[in-house]
Amino acid sequence: MIIIALDPDKDLGEEEKLHNWLKNIIDATKEYVYGYKIGLPLLLAGGPASFRYVRSLARDKFVVADLKLADIGDVMALSIDYLDELGIDGVIAHVFTGYEDALDKLSERARERGLRLILVVSMSHRGSREFIDPYLNNYLSIVKKIGAWGVVAPATRPEIIRLVRRELGGDVKILAPGIGVQGASPGSALCAGADYEIIGRLVTKAHDPRKVIIEIVKMIEESVARCRS
Ligand code: XMP
Repeated sequence: MIIIALDPDKDLGEEEKLHNWLKNIIDATKEYVYGYKIGLPLLLAGGPASFRYVRSLARDKFVVADLKLADIGDVMALSIDYLDELGIDGVIAHVFTGYEDALDKLSERARERGLRLILVVSMSHRGSREFIDPYLNNYLSIVKKIGAWGVVAPATRPEIIRLVRRELGGDVKILAPGIGVQGASPGSALCAGADYEIIGRLVTKAHDPRKVIIEIVKMIEESVARCRS
């Protein structure tokens, strides 16, 4: 299953242009995807109104705010209140803030408000090896402790996805970015054990997003059929 990352370029800052861009991509892809990931670039370009606009276009699709929260618990919980008012279904947070007075409060508020909490346990860029990956096992323990709905793990490093799947079992969803521009091929993360592949520029920068998403779906189907046979 696919989640499209909607990160607008700087030249889309004007509201009309931004809304046309969002509508064009969502109309072209919604038939083929599970949901949309929105984050700081969109928030900075179009403000909370742009989150509302995505919500209205994406209708029954999953919309997750990738704010990569990393603050004290009370402040992260406050962000959940705002996101809930905007109709957002899930939120992505970092896990390195720890449990006490951070993720305990965030997870409690997310549960109260009905938002799915997704924690970043590893990243696709090379710097992830410096300060994130050495703590992967500790992060996975916190994920289990708070009962997070999902985790983000890199499609560019399938061995991490396999490890995360082994450690967490089947109940926690794995969302994997890094397909396309960052190098992983469509379907590869699903084959390693992920539930969703997050795809941004490969689709959002395409001249014809509908054509590209149809090609991606085909590639995923072929790849998954191969790896599961
Ligand atoms: P592209 O254009 O590279 O966009 O397909 C990928 C999207 O996913 C986000 N991203 C990550 N988020 N851990 C994360 O939590 C990662 O390792 C990672 N790699 C990419 C990125 O913000 C963009 O929206």
